[in-house]
Amino acid sequence: MPMTDNTWNTAITDVKANEIRLRGYRIDELMGRVDFGQALHLLLRGELPEEKVGRLMTAILVSSMDHGPGAPSAHAARNAASTGAPLSACVASGVLAINRFHGGAIEDCARALEQVVGLADEKECSLDTAADQVLAGYKSRKVRVSGFGHRVHTADPRTARLFELAAEAGLAGRYIEACKAVESGLERQSGKRLPINVDGAIGAVLLELGFEFEVMNGFFILARTAGLIAQAREETTRERKMRKIVPGTHCYDGPPARETENR
Ligand SMILES: CC(C)(COP(=O)(O)OP(=O)(O)OC[C@H]1O[C@@H](n2cnc3c(N)ncnc32)[C@H](O)[C@@H]1OP(=O)(O)O)[C@@H](O)C(=O)NCCC(=O)NCCS
Repeated sequence: MPMTDNTWNTAITDVKANEIRLRGYRIDELMGRVDFGQALHLLLRGELPEEKVGRLMTAILVSSMDHGPGAPSAHAARNAASTGAPLSACVASGVLAINRFHGGAIEDCARALEQVVGLADEKECSLDTAADQVLAGYKSRKVRVSGFGHRVHTADPRTARLFELAAEAGLAGRYIEACKAVESGLERQSGKRLPINVDGAIGAVLLELGFEFEVMNGFFILARTAGLIAQAREETTRERKMRKIVPGTHCYDGPPARETENR
């Protein structure tokens, strides 16, 4: 539509009869040529990234797809499913349970990491010293540091792999170092090991990639939507309607452990 005084502007997708262009690229040309991570970068940042960045972004999405029926969002989606809700309502219920302490810690963690790196630069001190100072502020305000601690894992396998992939892509820098400095700082401060969780790792990697804070939690929401579909569908097809769903009482009966190399 040509611009007039009554139009408003969008720079994301241009749709004409028989032609759809995402940030200028024909969507049918992108299909089969770029992976979802690259296309997501194009959508959010306006440019197609190098393949290694796309791979890292796809890895972020895979890392957070699902974490079993005990995760608060899966529990919410299953409860909705057990009442007979349609798929859209089940997914929406699950997404509404993604908040500061579950899946929505990415942005707050990234903001804390930026504070640590900023302080280290300003005071010309080590990241450890800066982390200790920032953590002292959290402690005095009795606020938990987002991105650290986990109900199940003491060493989250997703964190190690994301950092490994970032290093392989030559994208591991000061924010990932700051994340590790906060983890050790928390242990120095409290005597407790509060491991970097997947939200924290994603926050650090997205900072390295230059994403703005405001979109960061969207990565978890996007990824976990896939898991919520699976959880809701399984609830609907395998369980009694309106059953009492007690978290932690489930038993896994899917395929046994297997390796991707055997595919
Ligand atoms: C994820 C989380 C809820 C798991 O908690 P948990 O393992 O059940 O641990 P608890 O809530 O029982 O806390 C145990 C102790 O560690 C402290 N603690 C836990 N996570 C902490 C954090 N991120 N920062 C500071 N202290 C923390 C608690 O205050 C508590 O201290 P206390 O024993 O003196 O009261 C918790 O670590 C947290 O709130 N983390 C921050 C939010 C976050 O990153 N969420 C994403 C999870 S993937």
